[in-house]
Parts: sequence; structure tokens; C-alpha cells
Amino acid sequence: MKPRIGILTSGGDCPGLNAVLRGVVLAAEKLRWEVLGFRDGFEGLLPPGDFVVLDRAGTEGIMALGGTIIGTTNRGHFIAKVGAGDRAVVATEVITDARKVLENLGVKSLIIVGGDGSMTTALQLQEGGIDCIGVPKTIDNDLEATAMTFGFDSAVATVVDALDRLHTTATSHKRVMVVEVMGRHAGWIALHGGIAGGADIILVPEIPFDYDKIAEAIGKRDAEGNLSSLVVVAEGAKPKHGDVVMQPTEAGEYRLGGIGEIVAREISARTKKETRCCVLGHLQRGGAPTTLDRILGTRFGVKAVQLINEGHFGSMVSYQNYQVHHVPIADAVNRLRLVAPSSQMVQTARDVEISFGD
Ligand code: F6P
Repeated sequence: MKPRIGILTSGGDCPGLNAVLRGVVLAAEKLRWEVLGFRDGFEGLLPPGDFVVLDRAGTEGIMALGGTIIGTTNRGHFIAKVGAGDRAVVATEVITDARKVLENLGVKSLIIVGGDGSMTTALQLQEGGIDCIGVPKTIDNDLEATAMTFGFDSAVATVVDALDRLHTTATSHKRVMVVEVMGRHAGWIALHGGIAGGADIILVPEIPFDYDKIAEAIGKRDAEGNLSSLVVVAEGAKPKHGDVVMQPTEAGEYRLGGIGEIVAREISARTKKETRCCVLGHLQRGGAPTTLDRILGTRFGVKAVQLINEGHFGSMVSYQNYQVHHVPIADAVNRLRLVAPSSQMVQTARDVEISFGD
């Protein structure tokens, strides 16, 4: 039997996951290894094991597809994340069962493609005797341990496309358009999307805003003869002295969302201008990955196989200075990279007259 490795995709999906799968399969085939793709995240590791053999033929043409061909979930038996900084513990029996499933299948090591929560689980599997390699993934681009994650560029491209479209309708109607974007507690999608899409105001979690300042910025634009204003608001943005807006989920938890409508209402009340809100939501997670994300995904997949070959278990692929390196998963988890209010990027935005409502 050929040596076998396993791979799973966990947490929220994002464009570029299939590029990773393809990269892993092609690099593994070169070493004459077989790749098993476990379905629906860690849940595929539950006895008796739910998997598919991934090979060259089965991964042909998948790079251009959004999502993940082996499925994913951000709930189930292995969830080890409650919120930023929290570490929930995966039950020992669940880890022991998963290890036995992998042993029975002859799978020597496991590649886990996921975000911060999935890396927290990966760490626990590693501690429980399963050799793991992590591949970071999130459209939010908020992991300190890697300068970039695939999926982010595609999400930003969706925001930019939306802003281009909303610009024309906003101008025709002389309206203010508020666009709510994802990103959890980090403002990267809003900042990059807003700058590239020509937003006039960008509201990010890292810079609490003031409704009067937003109205002031819009008033100034009106006085200068502009017909419309575009406001990008990150789902995790909050007013000074206020809190983030959350919505209850069907699972009895809470997720960020809803600030866009509130911002639109407050702008309308202060400026008396027609204001509309557009929530981009999961559009930012779907569709074909951009060129950059296909390349990054491929590089991450190939590197993960290399790390297994070299025995660097317990490490996570990391992108630094245009090169793909690796870092210990233990050093990577629970360390978020946020937008620094004094960063060059924020200053650049201010220099092109973008207001942060502060
Ligand atoms: O972390 C990725 C992300 O898309 C966040 O930007 C967003 O807050 C969250 O996931 C949405 O999660 P769900 O798919 O569970 O609604």
C-alpha cells in the first residue's frame, strides 16, 4: 500500500481551498503518496471515517471553483473555539477515536486547512498523538502568524466589484450607500475593499467611529458638489461608547452583523439624505478565487506536503516576505492581526480623503 496522508477543510469556506487540495494531491503524487480527503471538516474523522480518495483525475479543474469539494463545517464534535482568545477543549474520546480511524486507514499524518479555531483543534489533535500540519485559511486575513491568507484577495475583489456597481446607482439617485462587509473583529476587508473601490468613508473595528463625524464628512462632500457617498462598514465596527451589533443564530449563538442598517439610519437622520444599506454577506466567500488566491493556495498545499516529508509536525504554513515558511501551530493560535490605526495603510486612506468617522 502507498503511504497515505489525510487532508480536511474546516471552518467557514473561502475561495482558494480547492487550489490547496489540488496542490497537495499533485505534490503528494510526486512522492507516490495517496491522499484521503476527509469530508465535512473534522467530522469526517469520526468512526468509521468519511473520506474520498483524492487523485489527479479527481482534482482536475477544481482550482477555478469556489468552496471546497470535500465539504466543511464550523460546528460539530471538534469545535474548539468560542470567540477570540477562548480555548474550548475537544473531548479526549473524540480525539482517541479519530486517531484510531486514521491508524486503521494507514494515514500517517493529517493536513488541516482552517482558521484560528481549526488550528486550536489541530493543536489538540497533535497533542493527542496525531501528526498534523496546519494550513491557514480565512477571508478575514487576521492571523498574526501569516502575512496573508488565501481567500482574502477574492473577498476584497467582491467588495470592489460591489462598490463599483453601487457607485453608479448611488450617483444616479444622489444617495448615500452603506455597504456592510465581513471580517469579524478585523477591518482588513473593509480597508482594502474600501480603498480599492473608492469608498468615501470606511468604518473598521479598530477605529471606533462617531455618527456626527460621518455626517460631517458627507456634508463636506455635498458642499464640494459630489452627487453620492459610499460608506464601507466592517461587520465588527462599533461607535465610540457603543458596542458591536450581533444577531442570534439558529444554534443559539451570536454572529456579527446588522451595523450597516444602523449606520444608514443614523446617517439619514443626521443628513436628511436618502440612504440605503447593502449587506454583502456570504457573496464575499463564494465564487471563483482570484489569481493571487489560486497561487497562494497552490503554494500552501505544496508546502504542507513538504513539511510532512521533512517531519515538521505541529507546524503551520506561513507566508512571510513573499516566501512560504512554517511556524509552530502553538505560536500561531489565538494571535489576531488587526489594523493598526497609525499604520501606513490607514494614513494612505486618509491622504486620499477617506474618513474613518473619527
Ligand atoms: O471568518 C470568516 C467569516 O466569513 C467572517 O468574516 C464572518 O463573520 C463569519 O465567517 C460568518 O460565518 P458563518 O458562515 O458561520 O455565517
